[in-house]
Amino acid sequence: MRKIIERDKIEHNKKTTSLYETLFHNANGYIGIRGCLEEEVPADWDTMRGTYINGFYDIIPMKQAENLCNFVEEKQTMLNVADTQTIRLIIDNETFSLDKGKLWKNTRTLNMEEGYTLREVVWESPKGKKVQIKVKRMASFSQLTLFSMEYEVTALNFTGNIKIESYHIADVTNYSNSNDPRMAAESARHLILQDMIVTNDESIAVSKTQKSNLTMCSMVVHKVQGNASTFAKKEGNKGIYLVEARVEEHSKLTLEKYSVFTDSIRYDNVVEAAKTDMEAILKNRLAYYYEKQKIYLAHFWKQTEVEIYGDEGVNQAVNFNMYQLLQSAAKDCHCNIAAKGLSGEGYEGHYFWDTEMFLLPFFILTNPDLAKMLISYRYDTLDAARENAGRLGHKRGALYPWRTITGVECSGYFPSGTAQYHINGAVAYAVVNYYLTTGDLNFIVEKGAEIIFETARLWLDVGNYSKGKFVIHDVTGPDEYTCMINNNYYTNCAAKYNMRWAAKIYELLKKNALIEKLSETLTLTEKEIDEMKNAAHNMFLPYDEELGINPQDDSFLTKPIWNLEQTPKDDFPLLLHYHPLHLYRHQVCKQADTVLAYFLFEEEDDDIMKKSYEYYEKITTHDSSLSTCVFSIVASKLGMHQKGYDYFGDSAKLDLENTHGNTKDGIHTANMGGCYMAIVNGFAGLRIKEEGVSLTPFLPKEWKGYQFEFRYQGNLMKVIVLKDEVILKLQEGSETWVTIYGKKYLVKQKIEVRSKKNVASSYL
Ligand code: BGC
Repeated sequence: MRKIIERDKIEHNKKTTSLYETLFHNANGYIGIRGCLEEEVPADWDTMRGTYINGFYDIIPMKQAENLCNFVEEKQTMLNVADTQTIRLIIDNETFSLDKGKLWKNTRTLNMEEGYTLREVVWESPKGKKVQIKVKRMASFSQLTLFSMEYEVTALNFTGNIKIESYHIADVTNYSNSNDPRMAAESARHLILQDMIVTNDESIAVSKTQKSNLTMCSMVVHKVQGNASTFAKKEGNKGIYLVEARVEEHSKLTLEKYSVFTDSIRYDNVVEAAKTDMEAILKNRLAYYYEKQKIYLAHFWKQTEVEIYGDEGVNQAVNFNMYQLLQSAAKDCHCNIAAKGLSGEGYEGHYFWDTEMFLLPFFILTNPDLAKMLISYRYDTLDAARENAGRLGHKRGALYPWRTITGVECSGYFPSGTAQYHINGAVAYAVVNYYLTTGDLNFIVEKGAEIIFETARLWLDVGNYSKGKFVIHDVTGPDEYTCMINNNYYTNCAAKYNMRWAAKIYELLKKNALIEKLSETLTLTEKEIDEMKNAAHNMFLPYDEELGINPQDDSFLTKPIWNLEQTPKDDFPLLLHYHPLHLYRHQVCKQADTVLAYFLFEEEDDDIMKKSYEYYEKITTHDSSLSTCVFSIVASKLGMHQKGYDYFGDSAKLDLENTHGNTKDGIHTANMGGCYMAIVNGFAGLRIKEEGVSLTPFLPKEWKGYQFEFRYQGNLMKVIVLKDEVILKLQEGSETWVTIYGKKYLVKQKIEVRSKKNVASSYL
């Protein structure tokens, strides 16, 4: 299967430009460059010209109109750094621009096997000169500091002068939109240029942040193919490289542009680091890096491949989503995965629970080493989480921030930010998920146990006993349309899980004589572990006898039900049209909450889950992109296969078809991870628990079959689901037990396990 996303005859205009900037961005987990048009765009076109370094931020004061005790007063924001993607083209004094002349061809391509984007344009100038422009761009996975461009111009119907002006612009600001809470409200100049050196061979810009005291360097080198004269100059905060050539009809001029980005979080001397990298890079030409990119991706696809037989559109969408996860995920321990990856400034480059609940499941199953590094980020920020807990008045434990870059809480509106204590449950869940899937006890000893104990401790401090039950007050669950409530079903389940696992890990380490040192460092006693066991055992989980469902929280069912049918279409997402208090006083959900608990914690019997599912389905808007994927997984789990498939469809193409209308601000990484889970955990029913691996696959009737691979405790397994059988193959490893539809099979090398069942017949 060719992994190519193509957009033909793109109509660039005011609205669509920024959408394509997101869809065709280039990123490698360290740098991200939006797929902007190289040339300037008309002033009224919506564009977010952005280049980002994962984890590179400045600090902004967060003014609280009424500053109560210990409110967050400043936040971090991911910075837009130097622009090296701008290139102007002038053909015999006519400047290339999409709003002038005539477009014969205008396509964008993302090649996910080779890891580049391609823009192809055939343009006729107002005076009738026709050129073909091809721009190939790549953020290198093998050389993380490198972003390359190959700008090729062919004279199609004339012989004349072609001039290329290639820019290195250090004078940049962030994007802002004060009408959308998902974007930064104000734009300020965060990066101050310290130094810019422009010579004929290279340009180097060094900039420093206003408050966070960080420095970054961008370095650009050009290479020209074809006979041309070149000249470099500095104009204010810009380096400009000029290429001029007389081009014969049908011949071409090509400019290779190498940009290297370094920052002081990773390097002591950013300029030296950039120069060293550039020098090494230039020992080879671009073809070498294209080849390395291909090899890197061949390896990635080999371990992650999900293939759907019989639906090419969905296949492409699923691959697109997985590719974006790779582009977004940190490749070093200094950062994590932002809600929008490195594709845009939505949510200001912050890391949320999205990583642990929606993205790590993918990486744990397909790339455990990377998963370990992503979880280590939470270990490295544990002290900040302890401080956060202290600021909120907790005497013990750690509370992870709702949104952050360095580990410090950055959410300004605490009811739907800091109050989401369930983030602690998410982090603990990820540690357990990683451990169960990999069996990596070392990680638990070195980092995981401390995370689990400190997060579990916090629940003891947040909750209290009432009438013999452990209750948790004044928190917000995943659903942000219901805030600051008591006994959120999801949060209580997460707390229960967190504390139960703290006790289990304690026993495990004790059994292996590994607990002593950690207990001493954390002053953790058996008494405290017993408190956790008791609180978990006595955890109050709301249940309504009359409806036979789990209420989202203590007061949820007493509120009036929001009439979604009567709500005008233009009023969605509701958060942009109604005051939060108005939303909080209704039964209306932004996203899966209790329903998500059913997938993760599996506390209830099917009847309760089904009734609850149907109840919440009617009042959920899915205004959050983290929702439909969860409704899909749980529908599949409960045997509602058609619903499972339909919700999956909404999730799979969310960004490719811009169904939430805000892909222009960046991709929705959590949904992309959720789309993967909808196949693997939903359709195939994969579960990894203490008892081992189990599968309960079904085949959506729209498909002929599907397959995926996953890693389990050192084994690589391939699952193929066909109409009347499930095939399991051990690709790497020795042997392992797998339960399929409740029956245990020993999967060994070279022996395929076939479970004959009319897989499709379970379709309702
Ligand atoms: C969702 C959160 C999510 C955040 C970042 C919000 O709209 O409600 O659950 O963490 O987006 O993706």
